[in-house]
Amino acid sequence: MDTIEAIKTRRSVRKYADTTVEPEKLQAILEAVQASPSWSNMQCCRMIVVQSAATRAKISELSFVESFFATYGYKTNPAQKALADAPVVIVLCAIPEKSGEMGGQPYYMADAGIASENLMLAAHAVGLASVFVGVFDEEQLGELLEIPPGVRIIGLFPIGYSATEPKAGPPRKSLDETVHYEKWRS
Ligand SMILES: Cc1cc2nc3c(=O)[nH]c(=O)nc-3n(C[C@H](O)[C@H](O)[C@H](O)COP(=O)(O)O)c2cc1C
Repeated sequence: MDTIEAIKTRRSVRKYADTTVEPEKLQAILEAVQASPSWSNMQCCRMIVVQSAATRAKISELSFVESFFATYGYKTNPAQKALADAPVVIVLCAIPEKSGEMGGQPYYMADAGIASENLMLAAHAVGLASVFVGVFDEEQLGELLEIPPGVRIIGLFPIGYSATEPKAGPPRKSLDETVHYEKWRS
């Protein structure tokens, strides 16, 4: 699969088969994250690979933050069950001081965003599925996984085989809406 095809055919998958992930595929995903560009190559991201079913079940519980979802009218995080069902969950963390800041913009989020996309594309390239889960109780998750103070949890990624044939994804805006040429014009 070439890169453009991988980018365009990756989908967020929320239903996982009860099929083990081969260790060499998991290794390929971890190495793809490690290969990500980062601010001054400071590599602020860290990963926790969770395979214990009991821990995944607890992580799943912590992905529903009632106060957050109430405003959107959701009764659950759409990816909540995926975190319990997928055989592997990668918890992507970042150490903010191991990245840069410019004009008040902390770049650890950019570093982690790039790492996240590499993670999801690598999973897709080896025939696995994933989804970025960005809503969770960070404090309780930090306690559960014994994450040191100051380390931020950026995203939770269920990894496994899709239980269904992924459908076309939600539509994107047209380039007319998002691209300006030469100068910003409305
Ligand atoms: C930062 C971020 C946070 C996200 N958090 C969640 C989440 O908590 N639950 C969920 O079901 N999907 C989550 N998603 C997945 C998006 O809903 C999904 O990427 C978007 O609808 C586009 O669909 P696609 O990934 O299939 O192209 C998140 C995606 C991103 C980039």
